[in-house]
Amino acid sequence: MSVSAYMNTCLHDPRHGYYATRPGLGTDFITAPEISQIFGELLGLWTAHEWQAMDAPPRINLVELGPGRGTLMSDALRASAAVAGFHGAMQLALIEASPALRAAQTDRLSGHSPVFHTELTQIAPGPVIILANEYLDCLPARQFVRRGADWVERVVGMGTDAELAFGLAVDRADDLAASPASNDTLELQPSLDTLVDQLKQRMQTGEPLRALLIDYGPADGAPGDTLRAYKDGTQIHPLAAPGLSDLTVDVDFSRLKQLAEAAGLDVHGPVPQGQFLMSLGIEARLNQLAKAQPGKGDDLYTAAQRLVDPADMGTRFQVICLSSPGLPVPAGFETR
Ligand SMILES: C[S@@+](CC[C@H](N)C(=O)[O-])C[C@H]1O[C@@H](n2cnc3c(N)ncnc32)[C@H](O)[C@@H]1O
Repeated sequence: MSVSAYMNTCLHDPRHGYYATRPGLGTDFITAPEISQIFGELLGLWTAHEWQAMDAPPRINLVELGPGRGTLMSDALRASAAVAGFHGAMQLALIEASPALRAAQTDRLSGHSPVFHTELTQIAPGPVIILANEYLDCLPARQFVRRGADWVERVVGMGTDAELAFGLAVDRADDLAASPASNDTLELQPSLDTLVDQLKQRMQTGEPLRALLIDYGPADGAPGDTLRAYKDGTQIHPLAAPGLSDLTVDVDFSRLKQLAEAAGLDVHGPVPQGQFLMSLGIEARLNQLAKAQPGKGDDLYTAAQRLVDPADMGTRFQVICLSSPGLPVPAGFETR
């Protein structure tokens, strides 16, 4: 099978898939909202600010793609409750594939009556603000390996020792000769095309749209072979524990940007996560929290520092904003 079919089966097979059966958020891997409450709080204020920048429409779809345990949204909604009129206008919609995580999100967010969907196309018509943190990186990737002038698809099958092994589908050469990649391996997430296409269709209704997407990956240049697996907090071989480990790839932000621009969306970023959170005021919120909980100052600082540290998530993660044309520059993307 292709690497993308392998990823999809391992993550989403209803009986054996990782997210379907044992999503190990917090044990196998950790994400920004699980590290510090400030991450979700700042995104909540960003969301309310962007609603106001749309002239505060009386109805707004607030959508999260892949909400995990609901931590980001719970922190975001606590912070945005301070913005008059926002919660009254908001309809919360969650796009989540995992039944186990849907249950966790229902527990956490029941006070806001979330509606669950599997596709962006199912969201009610009208203005929309979309948030996604570490969602794009689990969308299945195809891999291609350069063989002379051709690109050949990498596949997963049974090796000679009856263990899973990577191979090449020599009969399935794909013509990627026009690809700008200088790498010898190329990863391609077809779902990025689908996502941009769905945003384009919504944009064409004339309703305002803004999507804030945060993930890891290079700001420019195509990723090579970045398929990784995580189990119990450790990186393991991607074929070692199918269905029992999280699988992930770097997001190709330059391709996402190109696709979005070609679709007619306004694109801001990508900017490094550290820069984005600093400009939204992470330091001020950290000081406020540390003052309110003096005994926890060091822990609060260490967690927040991890999100912005240039040697850690501060540069490894990128933030990109895709919008319908005509909206002001989104907060956090102003050029200095
Ligand atoms: C790495 S977790 C990130 C969770 C959360 N956003 C956070 O930052 O903690 C990925 C999330 O995306 C969901 N997910 C992955 N692929 C999906 C798909 N194709 N459709 C809907 N949800 C998906 C997973 O179930 C999970 O909730």
